This record gives sequence, structure tokens and C-alpha cells, in this order.
Amino acid sequence: MEQKNIWAIGGGKGGVGKSFVAGNLGILLAQKGYNVILADLDLGGANLHTWLGVNSPTKGLSDFIEREILNIEKLLIPTKIPGLSLISGAKDGVEIANLKHTQKRRFLSALRGLDADYIVIDLGAGSSYNTVDFFLLADSQIIVVIPEPTSIENAYRFIKNSFFRQIFHNSKNYGLKSVVTPILHKDNSYNVNTPKELIDYLNKLGGSATVFIEEQLQLFKPKMILNQVRTERGQLVGPAMKAACSKYFNLNIKFMGYIAEDESVWKSVLDRKPLAVAHPDGVPIQQLKKICADILLEETDGAAKNNLLSQLAL
Ligand SMILES: Nc1ncnc2c1ncn2[C@@H]1O[C@H](COP(=O)(O)OP(=O)(O)O)[C@@H](O)[C@H]1O
Ligand SMILES: [Mg+2]
Repeated sequence: MEQKNIWAIGGGKGGVGKSFVAGNLGILLAQKGYNVILADLDLGGANLHTWLGVNSPTKGLSDFIEREILNIEKLLIPTKIPGLSLISGAKDGVEIANLKHTQKRRFLSALRGLDADYIVIDLGAGSSYNTVDFFLLADSQIIVVIPEPTSIENAYRFIKNSFFRQIFHNSKNYGLKSVVTPILHKDNSYNVNTPKELIDYLNKLGGSATVFIEEQLQLFKPKMILNQVRTERGQLVGPAMKAACSKYFNLNIKFMGYIAEDESVWKSVLDRKPLAVAHPDGVPIQQLKKICADILLEETDGAAKNNLLSQLAL
């Protein structure tokens, strides 16, 4: 299967700017000349179509899941932005409850088969299995957080749930499912409540459990964007969260930078004109551009990286 660059944008809390980040990242990539698909997987509240000025989609992921549409290409909705198309989540107002993991995998591999350079997935709020699984199935995981206690708390919960879910899924391949499943239960008798405690526990078991956890730590490297920053003190939340994840969770999170709070952002939503189109030179989009270039660099290595560096003139 051809490797695609699928970026998923999650983060726990609603209203922090996941759709703003996902939508504008999609546009920025399309403006660079890439072929981009935006997938609106906020299954309870899909709204990227409104934001892109596209009529309410009549078909989406739910039709693919129900096998009413077999060819995923039929879900692609063109947008006014050259190079950018949209795939909608559910039919209007229909929430897809718990999808089976095989259904999620089938959808993701169909997405990978599409003719696109980048696919950006906008996820819903919360840490439900649907959200976390789509997040984990992507190639690059991006968490959006704002410098407010509720968002920070939700982001930590999202990180913890994602890590535990990844361990749960991958333990099967190591024949460790029966070891891992009871530990991941809430109120387990192993005293394992945080990723750090889980890592320590598996390390102590030794043998294949140690190899397994090392590999899982290599795999789990979400990136973080701090949005809606109003003050200098607010900016510090990004590095502070990275440090806390390392200290208390033993997890390596990559802090990608911050985006200022700016009225142009919510005004662009009211005007139904994406900010990367309406105000490409304003501060928030300049900040997102830098983050986008850094993510592209992270995803590339070797000769391709030198090529990209010269293209980006960094
Ligand atoms: N950097 C920002 N500055 C000002 N308003 C913002 C910023 N980021 C997001 N918003 C506004 O916050 C609201 C929620 O953003 P949205 O992207 O829909 O969040 P989510 O998808 O996480 O629920 C929108 O009205 C959006 O315009
Ligand atoms: Mg949203």
C-alpha cells in the first residue's frame, strides 16, 4: 500500500480551534500546490462544509460504512479552493455511534488509496473510541490545546486515553493482550493509572513486555499546537505541558508552536471565508504557516528533506 500523509487533528475539548487548524492547514497545503483532502470526522457536529462554503453534503463516511457507497472517490466533494476536496463525516444530524475497529481501518485504508498528497482529518471533541482510533490510525497526530485549565485537563486525558488505546490495539501482535487488558481497566488492582505507571509496570515484567513498551513509545509521538494565546504567560503553557508529559507520563510530546487569539479568526467564520484565504498575511495564518512547514519537515527525512528545505527557503 502506498504511504500517504494523513494528519489527524484532535484534542479533547470543543471550541479550542481543531476545525480552524485542520481547515486552514488543508488550505495551506493546497496553496503549496499539493493535492489535499479534508476529512470531516467530527461525527456529531461536522461543520467544515459550511466553513468552506460548500452545500450541506448528501453523502459521507456513514454511506461508506453502511456500504451504500463502495467507491470512496464518490464521497469527494470539490471546494472552491484549487487542489482541495472535502469528505464529510455523517449524513446531516446522524451521529455514528461506536464504529467497529475494522470499519475504521477499512475507511482509513480506503482514504490512503485516494489520489492525494495529504489528507487532513478534523476530529470531534472528547476522547471516545471513534475519535481516539481515527487519531491513532493517522500518520501524524496533532493535538490542539488552549491555555485554559479545562482544555489543558482534557488534552492530558486525550493523550492518556490515546496512549492506553494504542497499547490495547498493538498488544495483540505481541501476544500480550491478556496481560495488558486487565491493567488498562479503570480501578485495576495494579495501581496503573497513568502512562508512566503502565510503562514502569511493563518494563518490570521484562522480556517481550519491555521490547513491546519501547516500541510503543517510539510510535507514540503526538504533536501539540497551542491556540488562542492572549498573553506571554499563555505562551508558556506549550513548553510546560511538554515538560509535564515527560515528567509525569514519560511521554514525548512535540510542541510545534502557538497561534495568537485574534478577532480575524472568528470573523472569518462569520463571513464563511477561511482565514488562509481572507487574511493569508495576518498573524494567525503566518504562525500556522510556520507550524505547517515544521510539520512537513518532521515528516520528511534524508534527501527529500534537503529538497523541501530549499523549496521552503528555510
Ligand atoms: N486563534 C483564534 N483566535 C480567535 N478565535 C479563534 C481562534 N481559534 C479558534 N477561534 C474561534 O473559536 C471558535 C471555535 O473554533 P473551532 O475551530 O470550531 O473549534 P473546535 O473545532 O475545536 O470545536 C470559532 O468561532 C473560531 O473562530
Ligand atoms: Mg470542530
